[in-house]
Amino acid sequence: MRNFLQLFPELRTWVQTLDPEQTHRLCKSFEKIPFREWQALKIASQKAFEKKSLSVKRWTQPACFMLQDRQIQSTLWQQAESRGVQHLRHGKVAALTVAGGLGARLGFPGPKGLVPVTPLKRKTLFQVFAEKLRSIERLHGVRMHWFIMTSSDTHEATHEAFQKNHWYDMQYLHLFQQGEIPAFTTDGTCLLTHGPSINYYPDGHGGVFKALASTGCLDKMSAYGIETLNYFQVDNPLVYVCDCHFLGLHLDRVSDFSTKVVAKTGADENVGVFVNKGDVLQLLEYSEMPEYLSVKKTRDGQLYFKWGNTAMHLIQRSFVEAMAKKKLPIHITHKAMQYWNPLGQSQGATSCQKLEYFIFDALPFAKNPLLIEIDRKEEFSPVKNAQGQDSLDTCRRDQISRWNRWFANCGLNVDLNDKEINNAYCLEVSPLFADDYTSFKKMWNALVIKPNCFENLYLE
Ligand code: UTP
Repeated sequence: MRNFLQLFPELRTWVQTLDPEQTHRLCKSFEKIPFREWQALKIASQKAFEKKSLSVKRWTQPACFMLQDRQIQSTLWQQAESRGVQHLRHGKVAALTVAGGLGARLGFPGPKGLVPVTPLKRKTLFQVFAEKLRSIERLHGVRMHWFIMTSSDTHEATHEAFQKNHWYDMQYLHLFQQGEIPAFTTDGTCLLTHGPSINYYPDGHGGVFKALASTGCLDKMSAYGIETLNYFQVDNPLVYVCDCHFLGLHLDRVSDFSTKVVAKTGADENVGVFVNKGDVLQLLEYSEMPEYLSVKKTRDGQLYFKWGNTAMHLIQRSFVEAMAKKKLPIHITHKAMQYWNPLGQSQGATSCQKLEYFIFDALPFAKNPLLIEIDRKEEFSPVKNAQGQDSLDTCRRDQISRWNRWFANCGLNVDLNDKEINNAYCLEVSPLFADDYTSFKKMWNALVIKPNCFENLYLE
């Protein structure tokens, strides 16, 4: 208790009113993390209010394998695919989904992976990913391991949903829980829960390195011969899982950490941006980017810093092992959070300091990091918000227009150029049928009896 009061002297009077059992409970919850770490976190939370001086000297735009390079360097592109296919077929790739976030902006009552995301069948995000992986298993004759990071907030409900759905027919599913971290009020007191004990929260997607190590997942991966992890977030049903072109380029480059990027839609798009600081590739949160640099243009009128993060990565297992031993910087965001004050009164949503580790802070340690540009319309439409941009509505719309585009490209009577998206056919294509245009075309052409009515069409 001495250590606790040393850090939070403002709680001394309250602590004196606790009975021995309550004091014991509080102490136990405080000791969940070492005192040294508490000290470091407290200092970080105090520093959050200090003005940082930012030296932008030697910031340049990073190199990127762009969409146009697929044609310009077509041999490289094709060779990359066959290298990726080999790697995949040898069982060296596993999927890794981070699904421990609170999903506060969306406000869905439960883990985000259980949001019914598809337009017709209302499949959950988890089901969509499982179908993508099963389709890879079928296509490449390989067993796919799927590692899913949950948190104390999402674990039970996620486990229950998978169990209820017979693990979505995935044989090698590994749920593991991320670490936890305290949060602070804006005047520096830790958030409490009734009991009383400390309220802990998921430690951010950057917690994935330590969690993979501490839960034994890295050992499992090593035993299974897995070398490369395809990391993606739980919120984007358009993600291409185990994209063999991407895999091949990543391997050719001998990269530790590769990322798919999108060209920002405009200077004000709220997305993290890649920047070279000297020779070191880094990702800057949009809030950390000085405005004059956000709007800076090249001579041909394009944004100078334009490569936005999609959080789709390929990461080498050996790199995860190294990062699990390192300390990442802590990020502090101000979020409305609920907690209990020492009088045991629930405080409604109040602005607090949420502490998190971010996965992209590993980037400066990575050997030969690679960026590759993707077509946003095909691969990226995350569900983040309850309404407006990046919501369930925009995500369902983007899925529908992707499938309508595939039909149109196959020469079918779906002309999106003439139609507003509101007039597009409401249809759904399961990843078990096809998950990109090339495989869709093959599958469609192979269909002996083809449906001729597109509205409410479901293909599996
Ligand atoms: P977001 O940054 O979108 O955060 O997470 P969030 O917690 O899901 O949503 P908000 O900000 O509260 O609205 C991006 C990805 O990282 C995962 C999320 O589940 C999502 O897939 N994540 C985030 C974790 O796995 N753990 C965390 O502690 C935070």
